[in-house]
Amino acid sequence: MFVPNNRFGMRRLKRNFPLDHLISGVEVLPSHFPIPGVGFLAVNAFVIKAKEPVLVDTGMGIDSEEFMKALESIIDPHELKWVWVTHDDADHTGNIQKVLEAAPNARLAANSLAVLRMSTAWPIPMHRVYWLNSGDSIRVGDRKLTAVRPPLFDNPTTIGICDNKSEAFFSADCFGAIIPSPAQNADDLPKGDLAQGMISWACGDNPWVHMVEPSAFSQALDKIRQMAPKMILSGHLPPSQGKTEQLLELLARVPTSTPFVAPDQIALNQILNQMRGES
Ligand SMILES: [Fe+2]
Ligand SMILES: [Fe+2]
Repeated sequence: MFVPNNRFGMRRLKRNFPLDHLISGVEVLPSHFPIPGVGFLAVNAFVIKAKEPVLVDTGMGIDSEEFMKALESIIDPHELKWVWVTHDDADHTGNIQKVLEAAPNARLAANSLAVLRMSTAWPIPMHRVYWLNSGDSIRVGDRKLTAVRPPLFDNPTTIGICDNKSEAFFSADCFGAIIPSPAQNADDLPKGDLAQGMISWACGDNPWVHMVEPSAFSQALDKIRQMAPKMILSGHLPPSQGKTEQLLELLARVPTSTPFVAPDQIALNQILNQMRGES
């Protein structure tokens, strides 16, 4: 059973691990954010070791030192040619400024609205920016990366990535799941935990989905089905290989599932009391 941590934001999984046994040329920078009383949310960034290397997302600010160390253990940041930000939420842009400073040869690939929104927080070097809409592609030497809006997104700037070489879909927040304990691979999760965790996350992160006609939503899922990615590399799920259809079937259940209600002050008091009891 999950025991709540005594504070938010502790990182639990400190190592990187290569995905080379799964797909060639992509590595994951994993971390797991504890959600007291509930479980963990994976927060992943990725390095695509393309001819023009690409960092996908930049982790959490709370994790800055470890994130930069982990990145440097995978690649010399000077070699990065692209930093692709799937959207401008803090769990994806936590170290963007540090990364761009450490990677002077990299361009920032993102949706224009994400750049605009980030520029309210820090002065973005616009000459290093590359704007992308869903459907646009960039060539990074040995492969083409195409921006694809995932079927679920919590931010209007979201662009996932379809990598034509690894046949992975980097899905941003889509296909995320709250999981009972940190895991290295989606295969390590019991089926029931994966289903419950993915539907809960999808409902909580995308409350609009309950206003959508299930048939319209299933058309959005079909677009991913037609892409037929071999790997789903979500920002919030341990890497998943060969499970695309299973995951799409789980998402199809989301519009008719019970809407999420966020914990209230009574719940917070219970958490605080439990924390006091533990300290
Ligand atoms: Fe998000
Ligand atoms: Fe996220």
